[in-house]
Amino acid sequence: DHTTTDTLRTPIVAVLGHVDHGKTSLLDKIRGSAVSEGEAGAITQHIGATDIPLDTISGMAGELIDPTDFDLPGLLFIDTPGHHSFSTLRARGGALADIAVLVVDVNDGFQPQTEEAIDILRRTGTPFVVAANKVDTTPGWNSQDGQPIQRSLEAQSERAESRLNENLYEIIGQLSDAGFSADLYWRVQDFQKNIGVVPLSAVTGEGVPDLLTVLMGLSQRFMKEEMAIDVFGAGEGTVLEVKDERGFGATIDTVVYDGVVHNGDQIVVGGQEEPIVTEIRALLQPRPLEEIRTEKKFEKVGEVGAAAGVKIAAPDLDRAMAGAPVRVVRDRPVEDVIEEVKAELAEIEVDTAEDGVVVKADTLGSLEAMANALREAEVPILRAEVGDIAPRDIAVAETANQDEHKAILGFNVDLLANAETELENADVKLFTDEVIYQLIEDYETYVEEKQR
Ligand code: GTP
Ligand code: MG
Repeated sequence: DHTTTDTLRTPIVAVLGHVDHGKTSLLDKIRGSAVSEGEAGAITQHIGATDIPLDTISGMAGELIDPTDFDLPGLLFIDTPGHHSFSTLRARGGALADIAVLVVDVNDGFQPQTEEAIDILRRTGTPFVVAANKVDTTPGWNSQDGQPIQRSLEAQSERAESRLNENLYEIIGQLSDAGFSADLYWRVQDFQKNIGVVPLSAVTGEGVPDLLTVLMGLSQRFMKEEMAIDVFGAGEGTVLEVKDERGFGATIDTVVYDGVVHNGDQIVVGGQEEPIVTEIRALLQPRPLEEIRTEKKFEKVGEVGAAAGVKIAAPDLDRAMAGAPVRVVRDRPVEDVIEEVKAELAEIEVDTAEDGVVVKADTLGSLEAMANALREAEVPILRAEVGDIAPRDIAVAETANQDEHKAILGFNVDLLANAETELENADVKLFTDEVIYQLIEDYETYVEEKQR
């Protein structure tokens, strides 16, 4: 038996925003700059995440950071693909991410997925900063690669600077419309009350030192207590994605946010019907500094401690759900852990009605977000489930009483091939989209037209 040892874990930083606004480029830049700082060995690439230690961050932030001000180990960045709702990133009733970076293209401003992200940030109370990205595309811009943003602004013509300012104030106005008081980060005194906006470029790297500085400051000041974990505790995590992996079958890409997970551990994972009880066959990490999206070869590791991203291979994971909890059993009855997982899943169970539409979503978190949005739109739900659209969903939708409810709303899901003819022959309307608002708007328009 171990004695309890509290230590500070790495804060989890989610990078989110509209498609193409530059989330992945920003992370690539942070990784790339870290490599050119000569700290390549220090960065560890995780499944779905990148861990950047404090030393490396302070190297990149240069004059802006004094590393002795900090005692958190670094930052663990999670990239979220634009079409994939940030709502997957949930943990124990709240947000998995401790803080977030909302990436907004300075030229485009707020877009549907920006709004969606901001809704979830508000609902989960997640502190965030705004990365006003692509400043280098401002007409007449004179790029200052990798420099703090003030240095870069000093090098701009008045014309370029005022063009940029117009765009920045547009974003600050949009944040205010969304109910957040915001300002350029160097004018923010209290980051708990005001959202800091950091102008930057993911391509030239100017302003990136500022972003890292603000993130370290935010996590150090407001999150230190929440970062204290028992390093020997039974691991807890969240499923990011369920993926088939050659030679391993179904695996779960997991972010571990508490305790430690060992190879061979018995785990309980939220499944589509029942919690799945299984034993870990392998813990897989990408090889150092390999780009994860192209990574095919993994390294087997013996254990993974929070916070980290890891691929877990174990039997019976094919029914696991993205967004569901993962718990290591260790030293306690498995029934207790099953109950824990059930209780957590019950929290996000959607209220269904006698009559209503069928809802399908890619993850538990997005199902929850869909249910919230539908409640606000006063659209009742007959059944809500995670997964692609199957023949039985069409059968269920057909049983709706009102014609307008004979509909399936699918968020980020596909129509299974064996359900295609079923749909053709059924009196059921299918709506799919990758933006929740759009999906609901399309359905509402359909209902209005039907009622005419
Ligand atoms: P999804 O993952 O599809 O949601 O997109 P993303 O937000 O990860 O965007 P990504 O990083 O893939 O960037 C989209 C495009 O914008 C790419 O062509 C990038 O090169 C470009 N881009 C991103 N950041 C910048 C920037 O700061 N300046 C310029 N000029 N181009 C950028
Ligand atoms: Mg991306």
